[in-house]
Amino acid sequence: MREEILNLLKKQEFISGEYLAQQLEISRTAVWKHVQLLKNQGYEIESVKHKGYRLISCPDLPIKEEITRNLKTRIIGKELYYFQILSSTNNYAKTLVKKHVPEGTTVVSEMQTEGRGRKERVWSSPPGGLWFSVILYPSIPPHYAMMITMAASVAVAEAIKELTDLQPQIKWPNDLLVSRKKICGILTELDAEIDQIHYLIVGIGINVNNPLEKHLQGKATSLQQELGYAVSRVRLLRRVLQKLDEFYEYLTKGKYEVIRRLWFSHADIIGKEIVVHGEREIISGTVLNVDVTGTLIIQTSDGEKRVVTGDIEL
Ligand code: BTN
Repeated sequence: MREEILNLLKKQEFISGEYLAQQLEISRTAVWKHVQLLKNQGYEIESVKHKGYRLISCPDLPIKEEITRNLKTRIIGKELYYFQILSSTNNYAKTLVKKHVPEGTTVVSEMQTEGRGRKERVWSSPPGGLWFSVILYPSIPPHYAMMITMAASVAVAEAIKELTDLQPQIKWPNDLLVSRKKICGILTELDAEIDQIHYLIVGIGINVNNPLEKHLQGKATSLQQELGYAVSRVRLLRRVLQKLDEFYEYLTKGKYEVIRRLWFSHADIIGKEIVVHGEREIISGTVLNVDVTGTLIIQTSDGEKRVVTGDIEL
């Protein structure tokens, strides 16, 4: 209902409560209540006697009304849940999976109290960033699941590039760096059998306008820190969701190579000398390739080695 009120308010300067009530088939008191709720969310709406309501400004909050309105996607972000605070959007997404929410349902939280990173690391998630998770039910073989994370990292890199002119670099497997500092991390969690993925949750954290904790300075950065001004989280999230929708369609059609090529266009890694801190060992060598399962192939002094997960140092 609030989304419809906003759509009408955005079309015209002043709209009377009576007209809104007629259009939405609710009472004028109900219209007034929805307008109060919108004001509480940060919308500036004035009401002038005999003229009606006028929308003055919208908040830059990644709330449902702002994100899903006219969002041109097939699947991603059609349903969106926004919270002021959650333990972790990935955790909440898991509870939604149990309720069989539609594919593409997205969970956004202004802040997370137990934001999680890869390898059980803590992900600092104060207000001002973009912390969100997308629920997918992909019918692709589980060993291609990594391609979805790769698609997400490309979606974020391209959205940032389009909106800000910054050119984030993807660091294997899927960190995004600006000025060699981390600006985005992705945590993909899935539930699968050997030949079938039941569900997959792509959790994305982007440092946008949020402050960075002291211990992260030097290692992490934010869009605001890089640019010197605040970036619209609404525009950024909408763009990421649109891009992810586009890339996910390639994957569902089995076009893995398209995503792999896109990923390479943002990741300058082939031929680089690296050290990988893997699950069990530390390996150093030259990067030969990253295959369609996201596996890193390295030439070491003991021959070719394949690394599925780890952290790299260039
Ligand atoms: C990493 O680089 O280690 C991955 C970080 C992923 C953080 C995001 S924020 C939204 C989602 N919810 C979480 O708890 N984690 C992911």
